[in-house]
Amino acid sequence: MRHADAVQIVSWEEAEAALRAVRTVVFIREQQVPEELEWDEYDAVSKHVLALNNAGQPVGTARLLPDGHIGRMAVLKEWRGQGLGSALLTTLLQILIRRRQFEAQLHAQTSAIPFYKKFGFQVVGEEFMEAGIPHVKMMLSLKESALII
Ligand SMILES: CC(C)(COP(=O)(O)OP(=O)(O)OC[C@H]1O[C@@H](n2cnc3c(N)ncnc32)[C@H](O)[C@@H]1OP(=O)(O)O)[C@@H](O)C(=O)NCCC(=O)NCCS
Repeated sequence: MRHADAVQIVSWEEAEAALRAVRTVVFIREQQVPEELEWDEYDAVSKHVLALNNAGQPVGTARLLPDGHIGRMAVLKEWRGQGLGSALLTTLLQILIRRRQFEAQLHAQTSAIPFYKKFGFQVVGEEFMEAGIPHVKMMLSLKESALII
């Protein structure tokens, strides 16, 4: 599978069922995030990315808010460690660069800090709790990014 080819940029309106399917498994079932926290008003105004397997089934997702915030990064357990998370994040960073929004930021679960550090994100400030899970704010300046072409 060529992962980068399998990532689609979608709106909530056109891909709601697929986006909900992945996030339900990863966040609500696996991580026990309460349903009322998982779904919010930002989904409708965000750009979403969707990773599909060879059968066209959704296996990963993430979203980008209008203000440049990245969030809801999720890959189904059995599909992790194969570069899909990286392909999703790269696609969102490329969208930010196209918009000339050169500051990427996100709230990382502390367990995912090493994943984001590989992209150059740095921890800013203290740890805090969100949806019952420890998080840190992370930021990345894209001004010098190798993704700029
Ligand atoms: C975080 C997540 C999206 C990463 O997706 P993935 O498809 O496994 O990521 P990749 O395969 O692209 O991994 C890229 C690199 O980061 C590393 N990595 C990924 N997740 C990691 C983690 N939790 N801890 C340490 N390293 C990690 C991989 O080993 C890989 O390293 P390599 O380049 O040396 O091989 C996925 O683990 C996930 O969905 N986790 C559960 C939900 C979650 O925690 N989301 C983050 C919310 S902030």
